Amino acid sequence: MSRTSITLAVVWTALLASIQPGCSTTASMDSPLRADIATGQRTRQSINDGWRFTRGDPPGTTTSLRYDDVKAWILPTGNAFVADPARRTQRPDGDPGDNVAYTAASYDDSAWQAVDLPHDYAVAGPYTTAVSVSMAQLPSPGVVWYRRSFTLPASDAGKSIFLDIDGAMSYSTVWLNGRLVGGWPYGYASFRLDLTPYVNLDGQNVVAIRLDNPVPRNADWQSGSSRWYAGGGVYRNVWLVKTAPLHVGQWGTYVTTPEVSPASARVDLNVTVDNDTAQDMTARVATEIFEIDAGDRRQGCAVATIAPIELQIPAGGHTTAQAHTAIANPRLWGTGQHQNPNRYVAVTTVQHGGRIVDTYDTPFGVRTLRFDPDQGFLLNGEHMKLNGVCNHHDLGALGAALNDRALERQLEILADMGSNAIRTSHNPPAPELLDLADKMGFLIMDEAFDVWVRPKAELDYHAVFPEWHEQDLRAMLRRDRNHPSVILWSTGNEVGEQTAGAEGAAIASELNGIVHAEDPTRPTVNGMNAAAATSPFAAVLDTVGLNYQGSGIRTNPPQYPVFHATFPDKFVVGSETASVVNSRGVYTFPVAPGLGTAVSDTAGEDVVHRQVSAYGLYFPSYASSPDKEFGSQDRWPFVGGQFVWTGFDYLGEPTPFDSRSSYYGIIDLAGFPKDVFYIYQATWRPEHPMAHLLPHWTWPERVGEVTPVHVFTSGDEAELFLNGQSLGRKVKAPFEYRLRWDDVVYTPGELHVVAYKEGQVWATDTMRTAGPARKLLLSPDRSRIAGDGKDLSFVTLTVADETSQRIPRAMDLIHFEVHGPGEIVATDNGDPTDLTVFASPDRTAFNGLALAIVRARPGQRGAITVTAMAPGLAAASAIIRAQ
Ligand code: GAL
Repeated sequence: MSRTSITLAVVWTALLASIQPGCSTTASMDSPLRADIATGQRTRQSINDGWRFTRGDPPGTTTSLRYDDVKAWILPTGNAFVADPARRTQRPDGDPGDNVAYTAASYDDSAWQAVDLPHDYAVAGPYTTAVSVSMAQLPSPGVVWYRRSFTLPASDAGKSIFLDIDGAMSYSTVWLNGRLVGGWPYGYASFRLDLTPYVNLDGQNVVAIRLDNPVPRNADWQSGSSRWYAGGGVYRNVWLVKTAPLHVGQWGTYVTTPEVSPASARVDLNVTVDNDTAQDMTARVATEIFEIDAGDRRQGCAVATIAPIELQIPAGGHTTAQAHTAIANPRLWGTGQHQNPNRYVAVTTVQHGGRIVDTYDTPFGVRTLRFDPDQGFLLNGEHMKLNGVCNHHDLGALGAALNDRALERQLEILADMGSNAIRTSHNPPAPELLDLADKMGFLIMDEAFDVWVRPKAELDYHAVFPEWHEQDLRAMLRRDRNHPSVILWSTGNEVGEQTAGAEGAAIASELNGIVHAEDPTRPTVNGMNAAAATSPFAAVLDTVGLNYQGSGIRTNPPQYPVFHATFPDKFVVGSETASVVNSRGVYTFPVAPGLGTAVSDTAGEDVVHRQVSAYGLYFPSYASSPDKEFGSQDRWPFVGGQFVWTGFDYLGEPTPFDSRSSYYGIIDLAGFPKDVFYIYQATWRPEHPMAHLLPHWTWPERVGEVTPVHVFTSGDEAELFLNGQSLGRKVKAPFEYRLRWDDVVYTPGELHVVAYKEGQVWATDTMRTAGPARKLLLSPDRSRIAGDGKDLSFVTLTVADETSQRIPRAMDLIHFEVHGPGEIVATDNGDPTDLTVFASPDRTAFNGLALAIVRARPGQRGAITVTAMAPGLAAASAIIRAQ
């Protein structure tokens, strides 16, 4: 059924809420993104539990279910995101796959693996040389199936029933009770399937999802479907949504705050109401706005109201109401030392025949963004450097499977470093990342694509870009545009079209048009590593995003000033910077001078162990050290900031060695900071007193040898002592971000640094030569967790000497055990070369550290005892309470 659309431009006068007697002060917000809700007739129920999983199509399948063969049934799923009615398609008759056993409601799947979602089947391993090192040598390619049954009561008759999938990797095809409902190819997209025509009321329903990660010809990275580990499976949340047939549409609200002053914020609200009935309908739509706290609880009475408006909604169509109101003395959403992430919720009700038939919550924030070509970025009028990182979506040992606590931990570690921004390289993130960013105060560059028409790898997104880019981009924009954390829309990363003259500019321009149509309040950007300032491509975008070339690639001149001169009206940002390769706790000698050097077997690499030195001075030839990028940022203050490649190590794309995971992270795959963490902290948190010494000081084989000592500090000078003797006091020169004592001769003992700021002692750090390994230490990041089977405690293991000092190169094999109502989900150590599967309870320490990720068994409470053992060392244990 094709949907018609009417936009009613109705303007209300702002009705500031009068104090309503008895209005709720503690009611939960019922966030549409977080929990099951039951408001109006809308329910949103998590159906993550109780799935069955298997690999491969049923033996003897003769019907091809490949995307190309079923796409006529898949394309209509995206119709709501296609602007031109002529491009929307009708679902053909018939049901491909209805003769394939796995789609049938009656099929007995009891022999399949029982799984809960979010689920990444590939991270279980084992590692295989059949898959490229780029994709982490984990078995993600191939076809898999998921099935789950659910019952619907007879009272659901007349309701609209949807399956919302936040992300499934990839080429989803979905059946309900043997009927092909639809699907979506892009593995990072969130999408909705309308189950209504296929449901079995008052009885059993079976949903079957087929995923297909295309199988590469061989294990070369160019043959693959991704340049990094994309994961496999239904790796994000899945929801069953039921609404009245008259209801707010999918992502059907859009809030903006075009005028903000201390006295008042204008709030513009569009509400799109769907009419899934066969009759034209009228509805009354009203909205109240409340403040909410970090736990999504409403605070006090409504702070603003939009009076009811009458809408006419055609049968099978939708109508958008536009209205505005104002919030007096708005509490702004912000981040940094002087601002807080205050939020509001717009609670919209749809009434029909005097009854509320739908209630829909839209969390949002009030803030102003300014992208100034000369001053950089201003949030609520305050100048703020974007101290950003690029991150891929995987959560290390947990793979791509979304976990709220693992994501929150990442953001906590980044905040501790002073980071205030994240680029979701190179795809739309899990919605939960944006929820966390809203609550914790992170600024997001939300990125749609890594490739357009021109491929990077044979089986990547270019295959569907022509038919799906509009749907994918509009879906991302509509899903994410109410998040105050989102500040920039990136339509691409280093796309081949950058240097393709008019052809590239035409696509860039089309994508820009889509962004401006869906959200004119935020600018577009692209990560440009090759586009010249004179290129038609660069001219199209709203802002200038430079990958590496801002600071100058190899001996090429820095492009920040070149682009600034060419585009004096455009904001400039380092959309991707640094790309230092480093392994936590590994040091090679001699140490590169100056701003560092391209990594090679004579510079930075430990070729025997396939590790890279952690001095933070080695990088691929196109990249640079943090020091060089900081220098550029300070030399050209118009640059709005940077997004470092990367915040965390990620699975896949290991450079310069063939390993399981990357060497780029500031923080390793297990979440342990590498030394460069502290050069960022020193620079991004100048108010935080800190000093950090490197390398470690346990070098029995280097007695008498030059062993350079570097210091990262937020102070401005420092004095270094070795065994109490001063090795001199050094002052940071302009554009210098580390203090270095490059001629220190190693002798065991104690290294000590005293940092100063404006002449006063500011911070100290000490490094002692470790004694023999004696014992293990365990330290959980949280000693209380929810007993819901999802919440996690990240337990750090340290191999220590008698005095509890870490043994800096300890590689002991650790055995972890858990007693009580919990289990080990995964272990890790941050060593990119470690091919032990993550689920293993046995893990070698890497440079003195290892990690066990522990959760409670669902629904169980009590004390979980985690124990770590290693031959010849005193065991350790820690208690985590599940509650
Ligand atoms: C960039 C690219 C990233 C990653 C990085 C490694 O050019 O955008 O995805 O490959 O290089 O340095």
